[in-house]
Amino acid sequence: MSDQTAAPTPAALLPRHPADGFTADPLGVLDEGHCRHGPVYRMPVDGVDTMLVGTWAGLGELFAAERGRLDVLNTPLVHDLFGRALFNLTADGHGEARRRLRPALSGRALPGYVPPLLDVIGPATDRWARQGTADLHGQVRELTGAMSARVLLGITPAEADADQFAAAFEEFVAATGAPPGPARYADRRYWAGRSARRDLHALFARRAAQTAGDAAGGAALAGLVAAFADAPAGAGPLEDHLLALLIAARETTASLLTWCLVELASHRDHAEYAASEARAVAADPARLVARDGLPVLRSVLAETLRLHAPNLLSTREAVCPLTLASHRIEPGTRVAYSPSAGHFDPEAFPRPRQFRPGRFLTGQASASRLWAFGGGAHACLGRPLAELMALAVMAAALQKGLPHLPDGPPARISFRPAKAPIDPLPFALEPAS
Ligand code: HEM
Repeated sequence: MSDQTAAPTPAALLPRHPADGFTADPLGVLDEGHCRHGPVYRMPVDGVDTMLVGTWAGLGELFAAERGRLDVLNTPLVHDLFGRALFNLTADGHGEARRRLRPALSGRALPGYVPPLLDVIGPATDRWARQGTADLHGQVRELTGAMSARVLLGITPAEADADQFAAAFEEFVAATGAPPGPARYADRRYWAGRSARRDLHALFARRAAQTAGDAAGGAALAGLVAAFADAPAGAGPLEDHLLALLIAARETTASLLTWCLVELASHRDHAEYAASEARAVAADPARLVARDGLPVLRSVLAETLRLHAPNLLSTREAVCPLTLASHRIEPGTRVAYSPSAGHFDPEAFPRPRQFRPGRFLTGQASASRLWAFGGGAHACLGRPLAELMALAVMAAALQKGLPHLPDGPPARISFRPAKAPIDPLPFALEPAS
């Protein structure tokens, strides 16, 4: 995309786009900016001048140029709470930590997670079929927390650690809402979160000691303990990474599941089509991790990720000069991208505002054009696990009934920390006709 022959233009000359209406319709504002100005422009985000990068090609160029030139921009609050977790690391330590974390979150590890996941999911989907719920997103968040605790740490919902973990984790999550700068010290949530972090680290260490040598518990912990046993200090401590994985998994996966169920409730024909595939999972759960298994459910997942990418913006800071879309970016520039920046391009996705999972089945559209899981140096490490959890919940739900929203789809939406309904959303699974 960048013109390699012409001298790059200084980023200060980039077109500026107004942030008006960003809170209510951030994707609309970002999209309009890219339609008007192309892959890069400047806009204030949360009051700070930011260089926005978008379009499918723009993100490809960003991710290709990122390593060593752009660092994830995390606030002092995030550094305090997460310590040396993956997304706070840079350079070699970051690469080393990713290499050690990845095997437990993908590939051959996944089939072992299927039975424990189904154990956790069953009671929740039974409840939705029996009595429904007054708050779909709240329930799905809780379920995602229970799935992550089970698969990452080996905590089953019935054991004493489950309540202790859930309570400390909620305190910790609440602390992420404290002011990002010096004002955090005056916020009660910050100190409660620091204390919850210590409790969670102690719980992780205790469970890690229990799991040592037990590679078969259907949890990632045993493999992670082994992978970090001889890790260099630069790779960060496993306790920090575990907390980061739990946080990275929760709001995003809960968001994806909520919107999958909302869209299926509004498109009964797709729900019925997906339900017939879901019934085959009951007989053969291994399909959940088969490479080309479950094309219909996967197409629903892809179309939901396209329309409702959970993350709104990811932010970087230039640490070395670089060129993006023929513009020279100086160190210190704040850069942000939206994972859905190219998801509404009518050339890649005809009728982009419509929910049409079939586009991914017929080859009309390719899931490789989606950036919902990011890309480049910080691409989502939990993508295979997120997809497994989402497919497992959808399959279990559709085996019990078709999604139904008695009060209709959500009227008000918030976009951060992940896209979610603002108000409680009544939901039920209805027997298929
Ligand atoms: C639908 C669910 C998910 C979505 C949409 C999602 C999306 C993303 C995105 C867009 C990024 C890149 C952020 C950036 O560029 O700064 C990211 C990073 C990350 N994700 Fe996910 N994620 C999901 C689920 C998960 C799960 C289940 C886990 C772990 C079990 C996970 C772990 C991580 C980690 C550790 C990173 C940071 C990687 C790094 O900094 O190197 N994510 N995710």
